[in-house]
Amino acid sequence: MKSVKTKLLKVDKTSIEVCSDLLNNNELVAVPTETVYGLAANALNVEAVRKIFSVKGRPLIDPLITHFSSVALAEKHIYKPKILNQLSEAFWPGPLTVIVRKRNSIPDIVTAGLDSVAIRIPGHPAFRMLLEELDFPLAAPSANPFGYVSPTNAQHVLDGLGDRVPAILDAGPTSLGIESTIIDIREEGAIKILRPGPISKEQITEMTGIKVRSNPSFHKKGDVSIEAPGMLKTHYSPDTKLILFEKYEDLRPSPTKKTAVVFQKCPSRENIESNVYWLSENGDLDAIAQNLFRLIRSLDNGKYDLIC
Ligand code: TXA
Ligand code: MG
Repeated sequence: MKSVKTKLLKVDKTSIEVCSDLLNNNELVAVPTETVYGLAANALNVEAVRKIFSVKGRPLIDPLITHFSSVALAEKHIYKPKILNQLSEAFWPGPLTVIVRKRNSIPDIVTAGLDSVAIRIPGHPAFRMLLEELDFPLAAPSANPFGYVSPTNAQHVLDGLGDRVPAILDAGPTSLGIESTIIDIREEGAIKILRPGPISKEQITEMTGIKVRSNPSFHKKGDVSIEAPGMLKTHYSPDTKLILFEKYEDLRPSPTKKTAVVFQKCPSRENIESNVYWLSENGDLDAIAQNLFRLIRSLDNGKYDLIC
């Protein structure tokens, strides 16, 4: 693959123009969103979208999310379910992605040949500015090598894809820190969560009056059935081995110096060893989400053999 010198652009009018020119020429641009940084291309151009898969090393069977500046524009490319108005009023622009039936105007490469498409109206002001400059929507997965931890700042993108992306629009760290909630709304009167995220099941139920079903595979241990394409067994995965524990006492064998131990909140004891980290001061879930990928990336630097 051709190596390029990546432009790191602070957000201003000129940078938006540079990004817009690149995208109009079917090149890729890494963009900030409220969730994670995305790797964007013209969703209506097959050649441009193909570059996303090749730069990420992503298999063509894993479909992409298409981002629009408005619901009205998205509606031209889909068969609109009744519930969409309610959902869009409650949660868009924002970290919600919906799966709906697609029209032929969305190329097959975007949806991995499925007859459905994932759409999102993002809320990040810089991403919105860019979308509003363009006369096409943007297909954008997270801007990381396939399978690795998602990027929550421009440096993460540079670290993972640096010499393969012509430009990164740098708006600082993302505010939410984890990917959008994905729901399937193709069946009338039913809502199914395919990927949990910043917008909770309870919030969706409260706004729509519909009981939201979870993907049953979240609750199974071991081998899970893959319900949505791209919901693979390993995902968002650091190179260092990572094991989840419910209780500190379950850590066996007792952690050595080469083990990083990460807590949800600051442990309440006096002497905290140097291999102990925490995701929030007091267990606040928004703070945990915001710090999760950043902390895992920083611990994945070869210093540790294991992250617990
Ligand atoms: O927050 C986000 O959603 C970020 C930002 C950049 O918008 N994007 C993101 O995209 O997380 P990505 O490609 O990392 O994850 C998209 C996932 C796919 O892996 C797949 O599970 C699901 O969305 N998906 C996409 N299209 C689908 C479809 N037609 N049916 C079912 N699942 C689909
Ligand atoms: Mg991803």
